[in-house]
Amino acid sequence: MKESYERLLEGNKTWSAEKLKQDPDFFKNLTLGQNPEYLWIGCSDSRVPANEITGTKSGQMFVHRNIANMVVHTDMNLLSVLYYAVEVLHVKHIIICGHYGCGGIAAAMGNKDNGFVNNWLRNIKEVYEKHKTELESITDLKKRENRLVELNVIEQVHNLSKTIVVQKAWNKRELQVHGWVYGFNNGLITDLKVMMDEISDLEPIFRYDL
Ligand code: CO
Repeated sequence: MKESYERLLEGNKTWSAEKLKQDPDFFKNLTLGQNPEYLWIGCSDSRVPANEITGTKSGQMFVHRNIANMVVHTDMNLLSVLYYAVEVLHVKHIIICGHYGCGGIAAAMGNKDNGFVNNWLRNIKEVYEKHKTELESITDLKKRENRLVELNVIEQVHNLSKTIVVQKAWNKRELQVHGWVYGFNNGLITDLKVMMDEISDLEPIFRYDL
């Protein structure tokens, strides 16, 4: 019997052969470099595969994923990805995509000790506290959780805009930061329409003189 990891290698062989059949130059083109238009910041959840749900192919999207699609201003991993995507790859759109049914959001809403992950979820609890009045006015707990998913995305759009990388880009070119939510109940993405593309969209205290 095949080990489960061996299925991945077999799946890869099938995929590679399929790609070559559709386009004999597919891999040759990939070796020439990447020129993605989008940076995707999404949740690590296995049910939210960035390329698959957006119908994008290899080379079209630069991707960063973490638990609950957070933009934490001390996260060197995210900041490095952001810097490279904006400064070197010159992406035109950054998409923060949350999703309903997010385990990270649900965990942050509760009081259970989640061990080391507590440190990460703490950032979501701050979002909760900031919007506590609105959230606690929603009596249905599932609806409250869904709203926190949305508010968290909006907060991360703001967090991205607070970075010097995004503000410097805005100073010289077009760059849009979008907030979306994916629902794996129907496979559809909702645009929260909270796009930010200039420094005046941001609270004055976070604006840098450039
Ligand atoms: Co999630």
